[in-house]
Amino acid sequence: MNSPNSPAPSGRLSSIMQEDRLFPPSAEFSKRARIQSMEDYRRIYADAMEHPEKFWDNLAKLLPWTTPYTRVLDWQPPCASWFVGGRTNASAACLDQHVAAGRGDKRAMVWVGEPIGERRELTYRELLAEVCMCAGGLVKLGIKAGDVVSIYMPMTPELVIAMLACARIGAVHSVIFGGFSSEAIADRNEDAQAVAVITADGGWRRGSQLPLKKNVDDALVRSPSVKHVIVLKRTGQPVSMTPGRDIWWHDLVADMPDSMAPVAMDSEAPLFILYTSGSTGKPKGIEHTTAGYLLWAKTTAEWVFDLRDDDLFWCTADCGWITGHSYVTYGPLAAGTSILIYEGAPNAPNEGRFWDIVEQEKPTIFYTAPTAIRSFMKWGMSHIENRDLSSLRLLGTVGEGINPEAWIWYHEVIGGKRCPIVDTWWQTETGGIMMSPLPGATPTKPGSCTMPLPGVVPEIVDSEGNPVDTGEGGWLVMKQPWPGMLRGIWGDQERYRETYWSKVPGKYLAGDNARQDADGYYWIMGRIDDVLNVAGHRLSTIEIESALVSHPCVAEAAAVGRPHDVKGEAVAVFVTLRSGEAGEVLKETLRKHVRHQIGALAVPDDIHFASVLPKTRSGKIMRRLLRDIAAGRETVGDTTTLEDYTVLAKLRDDE
Ligand code: WT7
Repeated sequence: MNSPNSPAPSGRLSSIMQEDRLFPPSAEFSKRARIQSMEDYRRIYADAMEHPEKFWDNLAKLLPWTTPYTRVLDWQPPCASWFVGGRTNASAACLDQHVAAGRGDKRAMVWVGEPIGERRELTYRELLAEVCMCAGGLVKLGIKAGDVVSIYMPMTPELVIAMLACARIGAVHSVIFGGFSSEAIADRNEDAQAVAVITADGGWRRGSQLPLKKNVDDALVRSPSVKHVIVLKRTGQPVSMTPGRDIWWHDLVADMPDSMAPVAMDSEAPLFILYTSGSTGKPKGIEHTTAGYLLWAKTTAEWVFDLRDDDLFWCTADCGWITGHSYVTYGPLAAGTSILIYEGAPNAPNEGRFWDIVEQEKPTIFYTAPTAIRSFMKWGMSHIENRDLSSLRLLGTVGEGINPEAWIWYHEVIGGKRCPIVDTWWQTETGGIMMSPLPGATPTKPGSCTMPLPGVVPEIVDSEGNPVDTGEGGWLVMKQPWPGMLRGIWGDQERYRETYWSKVPGKYLAGDNARQDADGYYWIMGRIDDVLNVAGHRLSTIEIESALVSHPCVAEAAAVGRPHDVKGEAVAVFVTLRSGEAGEVLKETLRKHVRHQIGALAVPDDIHFASVLPKTRSGKIMRRLLRDIAAGRETVGDTTTLEDYTVLAKLRDDE
């Protein structure tokens, strides 16, 4: 459903999608749900709209405060402070709170390793003990509240433990996805001035070992702020350890006590930063705070996933992304839910791995990305049909729009027509889900994220900031602050204002196009900026372009997305050469170069060598035209601003 619509100059655009099927929740599901009807939803929504401070005050009371807040919200657009003056601790909310309430023996986590047969279970009490030992180790190294710690790890229990251990001592974690290159680690260490990196010798991915420690070593050549490297022994592959700087995880925690008081953190103290791609320049460190973020992650998890005491929640995201922060870690654990984590690839050792795991571990809720669903469809029924998937009661999607065909397949094949599907729209910046069906209440339409959650007040506007008509596309903005909103971009408050708050003054600009249909349902229509969504991950065209032009053969580069049946969007690049010979060998060299500069997920699928790139008279590359060529479409729309009309013909000849 990544629509080929490109933004018209006015911000308005027309929609080409029509989907009329409606799937109401079953009476059986609704009867047991937290929110059971649209009347309930409307009442709660109206409540949050009319008395937002009272509404959030009531929910925030459930967090473990060591110092109560004096004010719910201080809103000085675009700066929000929530639960002003309060002190709490995110790890205490996720762990101590449950142990204290007598739920210490409840399973907190079931972990399944990629190598067959590896499995661990941790109760809330055990998870708390591990977190305390790791936190004690961090303190022993001299790491303290406010310090930034980079985490570059495989999906092991220790990744979650490391995040919570940072939270326990007030250190700010910055998780870097294990698929990123050493260059990307170095950039993030540098921008955040990280004092330590927590990593592993390696990680398993489809049977091979990722060189995680080696990547960190290469990055640290450029990371003078990093004084300590903590290394989890995961695969046992050989690594080099630098004396005085590197320490094994098991040595660090060996003599640490299994209890340690959490540090009381200000509500607004940063809990973590997470880097994400923007439309210009280097990645942005999105900043989230302790109390507001935690409350948002927890509350939205309870509403959208309808969490119950006997649930086992499987969110397939890696903790390197925001989904792994909010719906693997903080949301479900703050809600006291049991989580299921799988370390490896969905096709290791074969394409039926996820369904083997469902059959064995019996998760009740399954949350994944449309790109994964399209892979399952492609891999075929033989991997699914003999598996028992009857434990599942609720399915979710996130990361990009889901095309109706994949939605119906998910509903019928994985959900056995009995599980509601929650298509959840949100962003790294929003901290948690913003628009989604409530599974016991909202009739769903395949491809629509339906309606805003309580406390979320969206609007669709044109580039002048005027609301557009029903059915018309425009920019999606938020009119009110919400507790989980980002508080800034690390070290660059100006970029925060400029990116999110300047184009439509006083409103949060999400960067997506959307429309609302006559029933009030929202339909996301893709990004308005030069950001690609590849397999549910945001990539900036600029980053890929700068990686390419840093190669000596490349003069100019333009990256665009083109439709891809599994990944949603594939990366297509157009390059003009300074030297070297256009051909397969150079294509391979450039792919390797991008992999080294950014990581595997940014490697272009298509490389087109061009003699010229289409530009406006002011010198801007006209990506809209390149998108058409990359997708093999006729060029539609206005080409009158093109500087050289012959360029389009030349580009097609270059093919
Ligand atoms: C962008 C945010 C949210 C966690 C994962 C991605 C797109 C996300 C949906 C959805 C249509 C979606 C948007 C958004 N997106 N969910 N349900 N329907 N589009 O987080 O990397 O911050 O990317 O992903 O374009 O702006 P992210």
